[in-house]
Amino acid sequence: MDLFTPIQLGPYTLPNRIVMAPLTRNRAGARNVPGRLNALYYAQRASAGLIISEASQVSPQGLGYPGTPGIYSPEQLEGWKLVTDAVHQQGGRIFLQLWHVGRISHPDLQPEGALPVAPSALAPQGEAATYEGMKPFVTPRALETDEIPDIIEQYRKGAENALAAGFDGVEIHGANGYLLDQFLRDGTNQRTDVYGGSIENRARLLLEVTEAVVGVWGNARVGVRLSPSGTFNSMSDSDPKATFGYVIEQLNRFDLAYLHLREPDAADIRHGGAPLPSSYFRPIYTGTLMVNTDYTLETGNKAIAAGHADLVAYGILFIANPDLPERFRLGVPLNQPDPSTFYGGGEKGYIDYPTLKERQA
Ligand SMILES: Cc1cc2nc3c(=O)[nH]c(=O)nc-3n(C[C@H](O)[C@H](O)[C@H](O)COP(=O)(O)O)c2cc1C
Repeated sequence: MDLFTPIQLGPYTLPNRIVMAPLTRNRAGARNVPGRLNALYYAQRASAGLIISEASQVSPQGLGYPGTPGIYSPEQLEGWKLVTDAVHQQGGRIFLQLWHVGRISHPDLQPEGALPVAPSALAPQGEAATYEGMKPFVTPRALETDEIPDIIEQYRKGAENALAAGFDGVEIHGANGYLLDQFLRDGTNQRTDVYGGSIENRARLLLEVTEAVVGVWGNARVGVRLSPSGTFNSMSDSDPKATFGYVIEQLNRFDLAYLHLREPDAADIRHGGAPLPSSYFRPIYTGTLMVNTDYTLETGNKAIAAGHADLVAYGILFIANPDLPERFRLGVPLNQPDPSTFYGGGEKGYIDYPTLKERQA
């Protein structure tokens, strides 16, 4: 078995196990509406076994960066339909990543200049990306217990909108220090209600959101992404083995399309994150496992052959190589990514990376 062995994912037969990881590119139009340029970008990458869309905020409150697409307004749904149609026309499949940034925002980005919300009133270190450039993060407002049902409803509605916009499934963004991750870990969650304290309580919101989203899509078209070792966005946990061991064990009961785990990267290790590789969690999770971070053709094939993973998601390699599966199949050199065009801008560094065929022409 390798990256080119087909796999059944819920109702879908994926022709390969090479997944396009979710990648924020900050190129949505006014009012956070995706458009034709975004449709072209995703269609170019439709040979992936599965595309996971860039993170998409489920509400105006969930916004944390300029130019990220939303999945709450009718106009956004229409924009996303261009994307899903274009991907389907090329024979691909695309899940939408459901996002709420929690404290990784700024009053400049929030409705009526409100404070961003979070499990607890603890500011992250560093700066928020606003329309006027970088500004220091503010201390967020801790959500009241009676506001939590509305947060769950935001995800449920986002899931419903994704279905209406023609997506093939959704991925719940529980990784990288955004709202659901902020609830999971005790470095950011110091609540004393049923959503804080014990691991069971900290995991409650993610599990309730998962239940709500599964209620819309059924279990087989929903994935969850976690980053147990992640330190990005000032994240920490006093016992990640226990926290994520519990969360992952609980996710078993949903029999989801997949669990998507980020491996520790160099920055996580530098920042003292617990280096817990996906292989640590493999025996705990009974379903389909997708792994990600710093994988190459060789290490991806190895992970699948060794049974450490069922699917491998590639981020930066997909930014620079729209035809990544074909290049992997032929074992040919890859285009080099240009990090200066990752976040924001227009066509350059977005839809102009050549395929192998275009290069040879
Ligand atoms: C430009 C850029 C944008 C990203 N946006 C997202 C995102 O929207 N959602 C998410 O879960 N991860 C996001 N990530 C993380 C990637 O999905 C992936 O985990 C990371 O790039 C490591 O995988 P790689 O080594 O194959 O690139 C982003 C990474 C990059 C470089």
